[in-house]
Amino acid sequence: MTQATAVAHPNIALVKYWGKRDATMNLPATGSLSMTLDVFPTTTTVTVDETLAADSLELDGCTLEGTPLDRVARFLDIVRGLAGASAHARVVTTNAVPTGAGLASSASGFAALAVAASAAYGLDLTPRELSRLARRGSGSASRSIVSGVAVWHAGDDDETSFAEPTAAPDMAMVIATVEEREKPVSSRVAMVRTAETSPFYPAWVTSTAETLERMVDACAAGDLDLVGRIAETNALRMHALIQSCDPPIRYLTSASLTVLDRIEALRADGVLAYATIDAGPNVVVLCDPAQAPRIADDLAAVASTVVARPGPGARLVEAVA
Ligand code: ADP
Ligand code: DP6
Ligand code: CO
Repeated sequence: MTQATAVAHPNIALVKYWGKRDATMNLPATGSLSMTLDVFPTTTTVTVDETLAADSLELDGCTLEGTPLDRVARFLDIVRGLAGASAHARVVTTNAVPTGAGLASSASGFAALAVAASAAYGLDLTPRELSRLARRGSGSASRSIVSGVAVWHAGDDDETSFAEPTAAPDMAMVIATVEEREKPVSSRVAMVRTAETSPFYPAWVTSTAETLERMVDACAAGDLDLVGRIAETNALRMHALIQSCDPPIRYLTSASLTVLDRIEALRADGVLAYATIDAGPNVVVLCDPAQAPRIADDLAAVASTVVARPGPGARLVEAVA
């Protein structure tokens, strides 16, 4: 029996990944860029045990079956394939972030699982290999392997689609949670429906590839205001795209719009504050670290707020042979 424990944090994209070129290898239609947070860790322990008849998954104290277990078991199949192993594993994990609420639990979840499972099965992977592996579990997880600001290159194939660090200005994010419940449609399902039914999807793919180039340049130039403007436009475009599916999906609620209104009012007051929103109703405010407490105080009237700074990439915290 071997056991390994890893910790990973969620990441919030400033240029969004929304659409797959290849669902089997989980290759994205475009590249994306994000900041890994220093809050909301996921801790995952993988125990490889020859005596188990099947893989098992315990999340926040509950034994899960169905889709969440299938996703983890398919991921472990990939790890077993790389390791030439056949034994099943027990996965025990806790999320500090709400699960499935648009705050990137699949990113911290599969980044932690990639690190813990590869160690438990005896693999010694480079950061790039870990990013590629995490991508197979959830695309956004490729970026949670990396600390701070990461670019996930769309790539041409499995080998070239991975995330790595990129230069960026000092920044903070205020997470404004308005709803902790699991979203009704998962990112995975919504993404497929978007590509299959939205007439706007081709324009999203072309424009996001161009947006990413501008974002990488704005980050390298240290221009936080431009980074924020590009990020907010990209997020609102993604939500417009998602709302254009058939049947439509709307992640934004009236509570999300209330937060967006307040961010606009803060900007009118001269505060550098820009919104981004993942596939869920919760809003994340990109800002200057010095102004984060003020923004968090302001939004506390309408949301539960947490200030985040750039955080560490996924890491192994314990391994027992
Ligand atoms: P989110 O916005 O939270 O990333 P997704 O729809 O992308 O939402 O993914 C949510 C799914 O990710 C969960 O239903 C579960 O299948 C998986 N997941 C979340 N956290 C973990 C974890 N710690 N370990 C394994 N799988 C996880
Ligand atoms: C809106 O990485 O959760 O958060 O690859 O199917 O697991 P799968 O999807 P996932 O999608 C993330 C979508 C997003 C944008 C982003 O994080 O870039
Ligand atoms: Co996700």
